Amino acid sequence: MPEYKLAVIAGDGVGPEVIAEGKKVLDALSNGSTELNFAYSELPWGSAYYRETGQMMPDDGLEQLKLNQAIFFGAVGDPDIPDHITLQGLLLPMRRAFDQAISIRPCYLHPGVDSPIVGQKPGDIDMVIYRENTEGEYAPVGGRLYPGTPHETVIQTGVFTKRGTERIIRAAFEGCVRRNKKNKVTSVTKSNAQAFSMVFWDEVFEEVSLDYPQIETESLLVDRAAMDLARWPDRFDVIVSSNLFADILSDIAAVVTGSMGLAASANINPSKEYPSMFESVHGAAFDIAGKGLANPLATISAAGLMLDHLGEHSTAGRIERAVARCLEERNVITADLGGNNSTSQVGDEIVRLLSID
Ligand code: NAI
Ligand code: MG
Repeated sequence: MPEYKLAVIAGDGVGPEVIAEGKKVLDALSNGSTELNFAYSELPWGSAYYRETGQMMPDDGLEQLKLNQAIFFGAVGDPDIPDHITLQGLLLPMRRAFDQAISIRPCYLHPGVDSPIVGQKPGDIDMVIYRENTEGEYAPVGGRLYPGTPHETVIQTGVFTKRGTERIIRAAFEGCVRRNKKNKVTSVTKSNAQAFSMVFWDEVFEEVSLDYPQIETESLLVDRAAMDLARWPDRFDVIVSSNLFADILSDIAAVVTGSMGLAASANINPSKEYPSMFESVHGAAFDIAGKGLANPLATISAAGLMLDHLGEHSTAGRIERAVARCLEERNVITADLGGNNSTSQVGDEIVRLLSID
């Protein structure tokens, strides 16, 4: 029986609450199964660890993670620790060190869920964002000169490589072909203002698109794309964009499909040499943390993306169906979707739905 070695980093804020439900679902799938088994390494890293040690993870953290086939991640962030320390201390180094270059973020308007965009019916919004995940605007390249003086000078440089740009764009086209829905890829840049990096991106997009003549293409400036996501979300199919822009567009896409609490994210190492990482799109959500209010469905869906990546396609499909049914039936629903159930009640409901699938 295959045993999958999974690193679990619950992290901060709502992270531990939603990861507990994700694990509950994984355990329900493996309990009694002769085909599926998980060996977890629970890694207590994040802001509490930082308070104790001055680091978000130990020196050999990446070495420990490397021993696993996938990483199941909650969130990091702390109201009292600057965000650049929490993010640069754990999440971003992991994405870079393990070359998790392709972030895939499906967004679907489920039956039972209302979009804040008037007139959108279930299934109308059905898109996937491909986010470049290791370079671009998030590259830790820059510096600070003469701090605290009137000459203080700050440089933050974007890094766009041909390899990185081409492979995220190609992944988006490949994903679009596999999806076989609206057969359209929208590339989002800001090439009117960023005449080096984004013009380069546009050129690579054009070049790669020639290999996919059957796919309709569109290039939008990011401000226009943000507007279109809010007024015509049903016109998108696959969106491909840089690290920063796709991050921002992911939050818009999540709320137009009902809630931040539904959006899942895969962070894929394309060579499969290193573990890929699976998480929700949302962060530590300080405003609802510790209250049992967080919707765990984003993290549970991320567990589904993880199983799919590991080759357990039919089990991944079961998770997807259980999430869809939970949303459609609306018997057990968290407050973000208008319900009054708790995080753990939703996890229990998914386990129940899996048992009758
Ligand atoms: P956030 O994603 O944590 O929260 C944004 C809004 O969505 C909040 O109103 C929150 O209550 C709501 N929300 C988030 N998750 C939800 C869930 N599961 N169910 C229901 N509602 C949910 O973004 P914010 O507030 O900008 O960031 C808070 C902290 O998280 C910051 O420290 C930030 O750096 C960090 N962060 C970490 C990420 C990660 O670990 N991958 C990603 C995004 C932010
Ligand atoms: Mg984000």
